[in-house]
Amino acid sequence: MNFENAVNIEDLRHCARSHLPRAVLGYVEGGVEDGIGMARNRAAFDTVRLVPRYLMDTSQRTQKSMLFGREYAMPLGVAPMGLSGISRPGTDLALATAAGRAGIPFTLSNVSNDPLDKVVAAGNGNVFFQLYPCLDRALMYATMARAADLGVQVLMVTVDVPVHPNREHNTRSGFGSSLKLKLPYVLEAALHPRWIIEYLAHGGVPKFRNLLSAETTAASSAREIAIAATAQLADDSQTWNDFEEIRRRWPGKLVIKGVMHADDARRAAALGADGVLVSNHGGRQLDLAPSPLEVLPAIRAALPESIAVMFDSGIRRGSHVVAAMCLGADFVFAGRAMLYGAIAGRERGAARAIEILKQEIDLQMGQMGCASTDDLGAKWVL
Ligand SMILES: Cc1cc2nc3c(=O)[nH]c(=O)nc-3n(C[C@H](O)[C@H](O)[C@H](O)COP(=O)(O)O)c2cc1C
Repeated sequence: MNFENAVNIEDLRHCARSHLPRAVLGYVEGGVEDGIGMARNRAAFDTVRLVPRYLMDTSQRTQKSMLFGREYAMPLGVAPMGLSGISRPGTDLALATAAGRAGIPFTLSNVSNDPLDKVVAAGNGNVFFQLYPCLDRALMYATMARAADLGVQVLMVTVDVPVHPNREHNTRSGFGSSLKLKLPYVLEAALHPRWIIEYLAHGGVPKFRNLLSAETTAASSAREIAIAATAQLADDSQTWNDFEEIRRRWPGKLVIKGVMHADDARRAAALGADGVLVSNHGGRQLDLAPSPLEVLPAIRAALPESIAVMFDSGIRRGSHVVAAMCLGADFVFAGRAMLYGAIAGRERGAARAIEILKQEIDLQMGQMGCASTDDLGAKWVL
């Protein structure tokens, strides 16, 4: 199937799957251990019941949504996804460009592949930067300062990776820290010639261009860079003091990503966070974590209106965005749904993913009798 003919995100997923070798597909799609968290994310949406109201005039439906003082075309942004260049070279740029054109935020991970300055230029003022705290704090502060210098207004700090997750599919394929694929997976990759041609044409393993440590700049090969980069992440000694120090240094809006407990959300807000992104990392970290949809209402209730509550994990439909907003989210992010689009058709594929979700949100609102995303809330939920 061509991505242009995709009628939903699942169709884009099929296109993306056929492009990718199995080892890379495991990285993109996979969860952790038994995939329970991922299944839970999906199942949580299936339990939501939205009660429609009829004979409402919804002919002027609008999805325009505010976040941190800025208006976006819809209440949905692109979640940060590291190492996207392994799926297709230029994926960060493709996603940022499509998001910029659509008037929605795009978040660049600090373990991304396309350089931040180019991504910022492509994103039409809509680029957020996401930071995994690094063991080398000086490196981390330098990275933050660079993002601020480039005009990035929103920093997301991801706190849900204190240790490297147990992603067994990566261990099996060799798609781990050393990015050294095992032979059967190398042979299987031969069944994806388009992927191989692009991969080789762009110099093989993509570089982590936004993680500027002494090791990564001294490393001679992309593989060495990957090893150095992985060593920087997953700091199990982090504390709230580190978060406080990040707050002290970051001049713009600050979001904490991966919060799942109301007390943590309260604590982040007390330390100066402007927003909380409720997320279980798409089921990629703690397999037995709840779906963020289950903890979202309690987190919303714990925070004042002035703190933005955001949601991600499991978004595959416009109705999922609407459900998350009814349960307390002010804004929503999607990871894989957007990535499938970009893998399937680069910038145009990413634009198709955004368009599909936008249309689905619109139809969902029309069906419910809701004219504005501002009006979504608990009153719609049975
Ligand atoms: C391939 C991939 C890479 C990811 N890399 C990052 C990352 O670098 N930083 C981060 O905070 N989250 C990362 N995430 C998690 C996403 O930001 C987001 O929380 C998750 O994808 C949401 O679930 P969904 O894919 O079901 O929408 C990644 C997710 C995927 C699928």
